[in-house]
Amino acid sequence: MNVLHVCASPRPTEESVSKQLAIAFFTKLAELNPDVDVTNVDLYHNPPPFLSYDAYRAMWQPVVDPTYKVTDAEKKASAYSAAQCQLFKDADVLVLTMPMWNCGVPAIMKAWLDQVMAPGQIFTYGPEGVKPEHALRKVILLISSGAVFKENAPDDALTIQIKAAMEYIGVTDIVTAWADGQDPVMHSDCTLRKSMAIEAAQEVAEEVATMTL
Ligand SMILES: Cc1cc2nc3c(=O)[nH]c(=O)nc-3n(C[C@H](O)[C@H](O)[C@H](O)COP(=O)(O)O)c2cc1C
Repeated sequence: MNVLHVCASPRPTEESVSKQLAIAFFTKLAELNPDVDVTNVDLYHNPPPFLSYDAYRAMWQPVVDPTYKVTDAEKKASAYSAAQCQLFKDADVLVLTMPMWNCGVPAIMKAWLDQVMAPGQIFTYGPEGVKPEHALRKVILLISSGAVFKENAPDDALTIQIKAAMEYIGVTDIVTAWADGQDPVMHSDCTLRKSMAIEAAQEVAEEVATMTL
């Protein structure tokens, strides 16, 4: 089983709650299934560029015009996208680790999504709709936020966006371990909330460890 882990927290693990969820998840997963292959993409070590005009054309022009020959400049501009699309296509499970920033995903995660949700690579589409071109079975969100959120809260644009994007390419098995209420000024129970989210991350790891592909 191939697991692609994309992390969008700039803080070191001892400070980052979302990264601590990832440690709990991957430690449990390795303990239960040592054969799992994990590929780590730390977006702060390997930052995605914003989608440029050349990269945009490399991605979309062959879709609207199948005879279009991608230029060398366009190929160069789409190198990050091509590499990440390959990792995405090789993955059975995708883990996205991130804080909530301004009610949504950190910009660096959105930039990665814009590079990877590439037509002709990850999906094709036509009048009949979208056809997935990947083998991804499950998406796991490991999230931390300062505020407390109820399920389907209208000010949670983070899970809504990721779920919509993944469902668009045919992935409906999306689970979340969410350490909310991590602002210690507002929430005196932040440590308890973190422990509960760590347990939730470990439970998701148990699900993944026994997944049959
Ligand atoms: C730029 C920025 C924006 C934030 N926006 C929100 C927000 O909209 N909602 C919220 O609940 N917490 C927000 N927070 C708090 C973080 O989500 C919280 O501190 C979280 O634990 C950070 O994750 P980390 O520990 O993995 O870095 C924000 C923090 C920063 C730095």
